[in-house]
Amino acid sequence: MLDSPMTSQLACVVLCAGKGTRMKSDLPKVLHPLLGKPLCAYSIERAFELGASPVVAVVGHGAERVTQTLQKAFAGKPLSFALQANQRGTGDAVAQAKNALQGFDGPVLILYGDVPLLTRATLEKLLEAYRAEKGALALLSIEMDHPHGYGRLVRRDGALQEIVEQKDATVEQQAIREVNAGIYVADAKFLFEAVSQLKPQNAQGELYLTDIVKAAARSGSIAVVKASVEETQGINDKAQLADATKVMRNRVNGIHMRNGVTLLDPATTYIEDGVTLGADTVIGPLVSIGAGCVIGANVHIGQGCVLTQSTVHDGAELKPYSVLEEAVVGMKNRIGPFSRLRPGTELAEDVHIGNFVETKKARLGKGTKANHLAYLGDAEIGQGTNVGAGTITCNYDGYKKHLTQIGDNVFIGSDTQLVAPVKVGNGAIIGAGATITENVPDDALALSRAPQVIKEGWAQRRRELLGDKKK
Ligand code: UD1
Ligand code: CA
Repeated sequence: MLDSPMTSQLACVVLCAGKGTRMKSDLPKVLHPLLGKPLCAYSIERAFELGASPVVAVVGHGAERVTQTLQKAFAGKPLSFALQANQRGTGDAVAQAKNALQGFDGPVLILYGDVPLLTRATLEKLLEAYRAEKGALALLSIEMDHPHGYGRLVRRDGALQEIVEQKDATVEQQAIREVNAGIYVADAKFLFEAVSQLKPQNAQGELYLTDIVKAAARSGSIAVVKASVEETQGINDKAQLADATKVMRNRVNGIHMRNGVTLLDPATTYIEDGVTLGADTVIGPLVSIGAGCVIGANVHIGQGCVLTQSTVHDGAELKPYSVLEEAVVGMKNRIGPFSRLRPGTELAEDVHIGNFVETKKARLGKGTKANHLAYLGDAEIGQGTNVGAGTITCNYDGYKKHLTQIGDNVFIGSDTQLVAPVKVGNGAIIGAGATITENVPDDALALSRAPQVIKEGWAQRRRELLGDKKK
């Protein structure tokens, strides 16, 4: 059951309205994918992990697209949206969430949509400090050797008094190395009262959220929790996005390795956030596994395999450079090297798919093999069937796709074309090089090639005719 805003212990506002000019991209900054997920999804996930309800995303730049993407990604979760039509500053952004949080009077966590590496542990510390201090505000700070660009924490007798932005700071204030990470917990009533009082009287003419610090300091003390530079790093350009991806990738790989997965070369293994991997599974170098893949135990994934939205059951082996997309690989299958399993591929137990075999919307029964150079599209194949090298289901007539059905224990000779729609019965044998246009009954032999003709001495006579002295 979802907490109603009135009873929930925590709400959250995620700032996602900024333009992200330095990304130099048509895609809104917060939608740029980081390890398979939009940048801002990380902050929203952390908020839900902490039990926040509701979570309000403040959107502005590319609002429609951001809203649509997040509604889809967080369907069924208490995520709502507030529009900040003009980006007039962080204080103005938070103010837009007021209506969405009407009636909520607990603590509000404020996160940025472009700070994806914050950990749950750090946010829990911040919430704890907020509760312990019993003040109106708590925030995360960072110690930086080069604090340029950040808001400086100005303290008096140890107590935080105000935050001064880079462009408004005096020379002495610029020397302060303790800076604002931009992550806060604030009492809802205090917060919306304070942001309604903000004035754009500063170097940038913006409504600074940081100005609420002065108001909070007047009414009590402010809890400050230290965080690392790494986890509070905001993403402003594609180089920073790549750096953050590397950090996140190491975290994800670390979790899998601690769960018993062997990564032969973690530095080149790209596993997106949201992949399930069973114990004793071994993953070779240069493997890429997309979000949503489910991989069982004891699976071997060879070098260079690429998997998207696929399921691989226990004990299967994917030999190097196989590519799977929306495919289901059964228990103990042997796939590859160089197999391509396209959407709708469903393989039962003990299936073998070999090199340069392409499958699409193909269901193969237990123990069936297609070991070399085949195309199986729109096909239903039974158990124990052998598909010879070079077999092709001709599934497309130029207008429509048609189904090929092949029974159990069928032997399909090499270089067979099955012109769909067509059915091959159980136990049938198709001679090599056949073009099958009509159904083949159970246990029949089907041949379609022209009978072989032998002309004794013909080749020799031809050479003599051409004056060829080779033989
Ligand atoms: C802000 C803080 C600064 C802190 C720094 C940490 C203020 C005034 N300053 O500065 O003290 O050290 O973060 O990174 O808050 N956003 C909106 N709407 C707006 C403006 C911003 O949604 O109108 C969003 C941005 O998309 C971004 C976040 O708020 O996710 C922070 O905005 P940004 O402009 O990067 O703040 P800074 O000036 O860096
Ligand atoms: Ca920033």
